[in-house]
Amino acid sequence: MGCKALSQDQSAEMFEEIQRRISVLEERNLELVEEARRSEGEKRFVEGELIRLQKELKRLKAELERLKTPPLIIGQIKDILADGRVVVKSSTGPDFVVSTSDYVSPELLTAGARVALNKQTLAVMGVLPPSLDPVVVGAEIITKPETTYEEIGGLEAQIIEIREAVEDPLLRPELYKKVGIDPPKGVLLVGPPGTGKTLLAKAVAKQTNATFIRFVGSELVQKYIGEGARLVRELFDLARQKAPSIVFIDELDSVGAKRLEMATSGDREVQRTLMQLLAELDGFNPLGEVKIIGATNRPDILDEALLRPGRFDRIIEIPVPNHESRVAIFGIHSKRMNLEETVNFEELGSKSDGATGADIKAVCTEAGMFAIRENRDIVSMVDFEKAIAKVLDEGDQKGMESGPMFA
Ligand SMILES: Nc1ncnc2c1ncn2[C@@H]1O[C@H](COP(=O)(O)OP(=O)(O)OP(=O)(O)O)[C@@H](O)[C@H]1O
Ligand SMILES: [Mg+2]
Repeated sequence: MGCKALSQDQSAEMFEEIQRRISVLEERNLELVEEARRSEGEKRFVEGELIRLQKELKRLKAELERLKTPPLIIGQIKDILADGRVVVKSSTGPDFVVSTSDYVSPELLTAGARVALNKQTLAVMGVLPPSLDPVVVGAEIITKPETTYEEIGGLEAQIIEIREAVEDPLLRPELYKKVGIDPPKGVLLVGPPGTGKTLLAKAVAKQTNATFIRFVGSELVQKYIGEGARLVRELFDLARQKAPSIVFIDELDSVGAKRLEMATSGDREVQRTLMQLLAELDGFNPLGEVKIIGATNRPDILDEALLRPGRFDRIIEIPVPNHESRVAIFGIHSKRMNLEETVNFEELGSKSDGATGADIKAVCTEAGMFAIRENRDIVSMVDFEKAIAKVLDEGDQKGMESGPMFA
């Protein structure tokens, strides 16, 4: 009986023991399942990372490959041979007969084309667009200036004249054809500094739908022999490509000065540039869609060759404004100003005899400064009178030095 009781005790103990073990094992199982799930997640993450790194490796290899490819040499085609090979001239000196890559379409291969050559074999790898100097490309005005004809005081006759000479031939060439005359090729704006020459050209640029190419004469003067002439040629090439177009050369006197017997090598380079300019002016078909506007305040030093008919054949004089024009210019430059009622433009016009448009603009600014100095936000007639005294008296002194130029 005792034995049986013992065995019963024992079996109960064993049963408990087994149950404990089972629960331990179950717990362990749960832990392992959890861990397996975690490892699975990690594995997926690492696999993703591997793919990403493999892609990165490929990209970097390609980049390295690109950086290691040898440069192509730029050359020019001189001739196309009957067997399809071409004669190229490269910057290294001699001319070479080379074959061309299959990827280059044969119709692009013409004499004079700019091409890229393999460094070792000089085989033609591609055809490049013709090059234009960055200076020339930068000369094209893409954002039009804001100046309109209304912002120019006086100069009504000159505005009509420039529009006739520049806009009509571009917009209505048939008029000239009917009458049977060649329209003027170029107009030259001449007049003292600050009278509105550049302003007028800007207004034309704003008004016209034609490509407007602006250049300052001095930009054409370059350091190396022949560079200036090349720039002129490329400039007109660009104008022809983008026709209808207007080429505006400001401060023309810097390239167009009289050619002298005695000249330094620098002068001679400027003269070569001028000769190229003359050649380009002659090269135009007058009804062609390129018009030229020049501007200068030193017409007296311009080379006669520039001024003869067929080149800058319309000369538009921009005078120092008269009384009426001065009144108009005062009106224009004080339009945005806060004026007292006493300000009388007629009277200001009378008091500013000899002032140019630029002077009048300075007077208006100066008058505003006087008002600000006295903490007013409204400009009075007295401010203007003080400003005229300040600007024009200073101007007179300057005028004394440079006066004879226009005397
Ligand atoms: N007729 C005018 N009407 C209104 N403003 C003018 C007039 N003339 C000149 N101005 C003012 O003077 C400024 C200078 O004029 P502009 O640059 O046209 O002179 P310019 O004749 O080209 O002189 P430069 O020969 O020195 O180049 C203009 O920005 C404009 O504000
Ligand atoms: Mg100017």
